[in-house]
Amino acid sequence: MLDLLIHNATLPDGRTGMSVAVQAGRITTVEPGLQAPAHEELDAGGLLLSPPFVDAHFHLDATLTYGMPRVNQSGTLLEGIALWGELKPSLTADAIIQRALTYCDWAVAKGLLVVRSHVDTSDPSLMAVQALLDVKRQVAPYLDLQLVAFPQMGVLRHPGALDNVRRAVALGVDVVGGIPHFERTMQEGAASVKLLCELAAELGVPVDMHCDESDDPLSRHVETLAFETQRLGLQGRVTGSHLTSMHSMDNYYVSKLMGLMAEARLHVVSNPCVNITLQGRFDNYPKRRGLTRVPELMAAGLTVAFGQDDLMDPWYSLGCADMLDVAYMGLHVAQMTSQIAMHQCFDAVTINPARILGLQGYGLDAGCHADFVLLQARDPVEAIRLRATRLKVYRRGKLLASSPASIAKLNLTGRPPQTPFYT
Ligand code: FE2
Repeated sequence: MLDLLIHNATLPDGRTGMSVAVQAGRITTVEPGLQAPAHEELDAGGLLLSPPFVDAHFHLDATLTYGMPRVNQSGTLLEGIALWGELKPSLTADAIIQRALTYCDWAVAKGLLVVRSHVDTSDPSLMAVQALLDVKRQVAPYLDLQLVAFPQMGVLRHPGALDNVRRAVALGVDVVGGIPHFERTMQEGAASVKLLCELAAELGVPVDMHCDESDDPLSRHVETLAFETQRLGLQGRVTGSHLTSMHSMDNYYVSKLMGLMAEARLHVVSNPCVNITLQGRFDNYPKRRGLTRVPELMAAGLTVAFGQDDLMDPWYSLGCADMLDVAYMGLHVAQMTSQIAMHQCFDAVTINPARILGLQGYGLDAGCHADFVLLQARDPVEAIRLRATRLKVYRRGKLLASSPASIAKLNLTGRPPQTPFYT
């Protein structure tokens, strides 16, 4: 007897009329029209069944602090970092934990079941690290949380920062982070990349570095990241996040750089909602978009994900834990409007970040974890277009969240009552 049998689902790869059978928290069978006894059956009605959304880049220690103690007036990354510095002395572990747990509730309701969060390690007490490790334990039954040790104030610019990263990993943080473009000089930025990659190699953990998050066409830290990845044999274990400078770089240089990145098997995370608002702030018109070269990086064979980055914090005032919002923004800003490209945008918030995070058992194949989301949409493009309602969210075959279908009843003068299905 199966635990759960889903009928008539459409899968992201386009297969329709599919049945998905679940036993003991794992998918046992995926095939058309399966009939078998099950404790629970669900007719998907031809709608899209997707693996859960994955956010490869978030800041859970800062989330839901919007307006504390004030709002970012210039809208720049640098004022956001300064504002975060003003806020930090008033932070408490309890408040970080409560805000993070609230955010994780929002995430589950949106079918977002895996989050990689950076955590600021600048404070020698590592209070935020301890708080998010506590959150990781608390949410483990329903959400997978990976943590990145993030030296927000730089490692050469901030005394003790490298040791703090080492101590954070010893406490259980999963990944080494960095922020070379915030170091005092380009040379110190490059030195910080070298130091952090060497530390990650020594500790045996992956790297995910904020890199070249500026509009400076001469920023070169992703080149150093690719070089150190190869030098230390870290291929496939290193991620460059943001990479917004690539938007502004010389085209010839980028053509060489992308080859170096592909050789190093770097992963890329672009954060479209945040970078379309942070970048180009020092431009007159025309204003640069400031997003990295997503379709070109994908075409070069790199795995590229879209991340959310921030939500209601010193850097970004909006957001609702909806990775379809992120995909929608990425699609527009990167002009990924062909059918293939729109499907790639859906992949950029599902299977691509899953690959970057090294998730085991992710996907809709026999043997995978029974983690999936039923969307009120017929295919991935429609899911993005509508930011479709998450009708059901399952993890390990258990229903975690459900939402009623979005249906508006119209009452238009002179016309019979209408009930459009998609709104
Ligand atoms: Fe970030």
